[in-house]
Amino acid sequence: MDLSSRSKILSWLREEDSAKLELFYDAANRFRKKQVGDEVHLRGLIEFSNHCVCSCTYCGLRVENRDLERYRMTPEEILSSARNAKSAGYGTVVLQSGDDPRTTTDWMSNVIRNIRTETGLAVTLSVGERTREDLAAWREAGAERYLLRFETSNKALFNRIHPRRPGQGRDRFEVLRDLRNLGYEVGSGVMIGIPGQTYEDLAQDIDLFRELDLDMIGVGPWISHPRAPLANMPCASKQDQVSNNEEMVYKVLALTRLVCPLTNIPATTGLATINRDSGRELGLDRGANVLMPNCTPLRFRRLYEIYPAKVCMDETEDACQSAMRDRVEAMGRTIGVGPGPSRNREARIRN
Ligand code: 5AD
Repeated sequence: MDLSSRSKILSWLREEDSAKLELFYDAANRFRKKQVGDEVHLRGLIEFSNHCVCSCTYCGLRVENRDLERYRMTPEEILSSARNAKSAGYGTVVLQSGDDPRTTTDWMSNVIRNIRTETGLAVTLSVGERTREDLAAWREAGAERYLLRFETSNKALFNRIHPRRPGQGRDRFEVLRDLRNLGYEVGSGVMIGIPGQTYEDLAQDIDLFRELDLDMIGVGPWISHPRAPLANMPCASKQDQVSNNEEMVYKVLALTRLVCPLTNIPATTGLATINRDSGRELGLDRGANVLMPNCTPLRFRRLYEIYPAKVCMDETEDACQSAMRDRVEAMGRTIGVGPGPSRNREARIRN
């Protein structure tokens, strides 16, 4: 399929003919199978702190949200969740948090070292816009992967939804470059349907996925949070504003697979939240090859409310996890064994 130009990407984003879209999704699914096979890799997600100093206008963890009870797991609690992830058969844990100043260089390094030594699991970090020194120390401590979504490539829109405190934060593309230079597998991604996001913006995001040669790409719908002000921000004109509906997420998933053949692409929690019954399966059917089961202890999990009504909040951890396995196998796909490294990176090294 020819997606070499921005205008081709744009026309698929605008496509509304459901028969054509079905064929398009089939093509993305076949391409996924050819490029990365039938394995679905499971990454255990540990949301270790919901403290955050940022004011991102979409996020329920924003510092202004005083209605949220804050928590920070201890290193021992994190290690115990990692042990659970290992027993559940996952090869990787993703340590995610708000932008928490108590996550110091040494604290995080120790957590990473303990997990590496005790469990041998691959460690992925998702802890925000940190300094090059922190990223280097954590790589040294054994973290191999890092996720930082750029959220949108439209600079004006990015700045509007990320009010800056003076002197804080780093340009995310600069962080992504640092991560690559430090030898991390690099993950990024965007939200779909941000008020003010146009089709052109989203087509540019997808073009950028290709350019950045990412190892992992996570995309999900923007979901309105009642304690976050983004819902009241102006939208683009009716014909330009991207919708945050399910169909749009599938279009972006399929396009992402087609322009980034070897990348690891999760069917995200955001997608599962807007279609609880089959969002994950449909995502896996339309380009995705990764799932991220939540391994955060339940008492903390309900407090990690970046958006409302997240899935897997009231099930027991085990039910959530085994359901995922069963559903993958029922689709005729297999569960990936081991850490499931980036094939993109392997290709980069070969060349
Ligand atoms: N809706 C959708 N995605 C959100 N995120 C944060 N808040 C929301 C929301 N309200 C996403 C951002 C962030 C990731 C961890 O979660 O893309 O990078």
